[in-house]
Amino acid sequence: MIKKIYLSEVESTNNYAMENIQEIEDKTVVFADIQSKGKGRNARNWVSEKNNLFASLVLKPRFDFQEKHTLNALAHYTAVVLARVFKKKYLIETKIKWPNDLLVDRKKIAGILIETIIQGYLLEAVIIGIGVNLNLGKGLLEKIDQPATSLNVLLKKEIDRDEFLDFLLKEFFLQYDELLEKGFLLIKEEYSLRNMFLGKMVEAAAFNKKYYGIAKEITDKGQLVLDCNGIEKIIDMGDIIC
Ligand code: BTN
Repeated sequence: MIKKIYLSEVESTNNYAMENIQEIEDKTVVFADIQSKGKGRNARNWVSEKNNLFASLVLKPRFDFQEKHTLNALAHYTAVVLARVFKKKYLIETKIKWPNDLLVDRKKIAGILIETIIQGYLLEAVIIGIGVNLNLGKGLLEKIDQPATSLNVLLKKEIDRDEFLDFLLKEFFLQYDELLEKGFLLIKEEYSLRNMFLGKMVEAAAFNKKYYGIAKEITDKGQLVLDCNGIEKIIDMGDIIC
């Protein structure tokens, strides 16, 4: 059974989950109407105005935190689940930009920020922060520092946030246990098919370094393989910039 914690306003649902992690049970979603300091990846902020989805899924699976690939698998799985929701419920095709941005026509519609709480060698909790542009106005879309879109703009109607969230949670838990058991391999094919940069020249950033090369493939562990002038570079964590 999924537990829900609703907040009308909060700094960041990820921070709220982090600060209250002892009291929050496994498989709980924290969601809010407004975030005053919504966080994006790479220290960016996440525009967080009413009628969009700001949710943090708190999970307490038992695995060694050094198994970072399981964390990558969880983040990639969340991206695949979001893609399934867009397709199944709204008939919208999305692409994934490695590692886990969701795009429509090269414009971002959803993002994922995964954070962990570690105790000794054990992972106490994983917090999967999910932001989805459901009802962003045109003015706000233009203010975002990267090309962005919103579901209401694509469908030309208002989107019900709670309906989206319920569908997302149902989809997420359909294969969650299987994902923990099998890891990224469970979704590798679907993830790769949705990946918009495979076979293309990209710029990727990892730990303050930039790499240019052809995005060759995604490994069995969800890493990005770049062909940099004949030299293969495997990137664990980072971003495709363009
Ligand atoms: C990204 O930069 O693509 C990740 C965006 C993640 C935003 C979500 S909104 C809910 C949760 N709380 C936060 O402060 N951030 C995440």
